[in-house]
Amino acid sequence: MKLFCHFADLSLCLESEIMHLQVSKLKKEFGSTVAINSVSFESTKNEFIGIIGRSGAGKSTLLRVLNRLTTETEGKVFAGSINILELKGSEKRQWQSQCAMIFQQFNLVPRLDVITNVILGRLFYQSTLRSTLRFFTKEERSDALDLMNRFGVAPTALQRAETLSGGQQQRVAICRAMMQNPKIILADEPIASLDPLNARLVMEALQSINSSEKIKVICNLHTLDTARTYCDRIIGMRSGEIVFDGKPSELSDAKAREIYGVEADEAFEASVTSTSLNTSHIGIAS
Ligand SMILES: Nc1ncnc2c1ncn2[C@@H]1O[C@H](COP(=O)(O)OP(=O)(O)OP(=O)(O)O)[C@@H](O)[C@H]1O
Ligand SMILES: [Mg+2]
Repeated sequence: MKLFCHFADLSLCLESEIMHLQVSKLKKEFGSTVAINSVSFESTKNEFIGIIGRSGAGKSTLLRVLNRLTTETEGKVFAGSINILELKGSEKRQWQSQCAMIFQQFNLVPRLDVITNVILGRLFYQSTLRSTLRFFTKEERSDALDLMNRFGVAPTALQRAETLSGGQQQRVAICRAMMQNPKIILADEPIASLDPLNARLVMEALQSINSSEKIKVICNLHTLDTARTYCDRIIGMRSGEIVFDGKPSELSDAKAREIYGVEADEAFEASVTSTSLNTSHIGIAS
């Protein structure tokens, strides 16, 4: 799919195709709880980053601050030359459109059919009601169908989203995210509710998007095995701080045990991960 900037305001269009992201001393407190503390990292190239850490480490909070779903307490996040934490109103919405989110619980509109859910990604600026009251253009329908074909959910186009399996719903959510023409995808435990086969299809879909469209992916993952299999770079968080940032091959078992603490055994347990099916890639996504 061709990437293009469809915003009237071009100020958010980045100079290069690949988003240059720089997170600097990011902190988020909820009352007396420090959810993330002095988090800094930079991503200058196209990469698939996995964020790992035990429950409560701050993984979701980090993604939510990046997407502006929650406000930071301190720090800066530069996308290109723009500190996206300072954007307000329509510029903030433009950032959110370029920075698509995928959630563990899919967040589709359950009673709307699948193709409408997908097209809603393109109509990011309009309310759901306004969007569904108007006719979709041929191009919107054709782009949605191309994505749904690619990720194996086209046969469900006219079904209500709530009738789909979890794995199908997550692939629909990926299609919807792609309809936003994002520059970056933030996925918060996208496979945590899925069985191993569907988990694999979803991770392969994200991997395909990352490599074919050069869209940066940052993905929170609960298990180390999945992060090692799919990610180019792993960021390990513990108690709100980054305690590891490197290639999967650089992450020793000892370091991983330090990241996961008492949850290490669960994180190392292959039977709960998407890669426990020891087969070659299934390849729905090209
Ligand atoms: N809205 C909130 N109000 C109060 N505290 C919060 C809120 N959101 C997160 N926290 C706290 O911030 C810390 C980090 O939470 P976060 O959800 O980011 O962790 P996580 O790494 O995503 O955990 P999990 O793996 O369980 O999803 C936790 O102590 C959590 O209780
Ligand atoms: Mg979380």
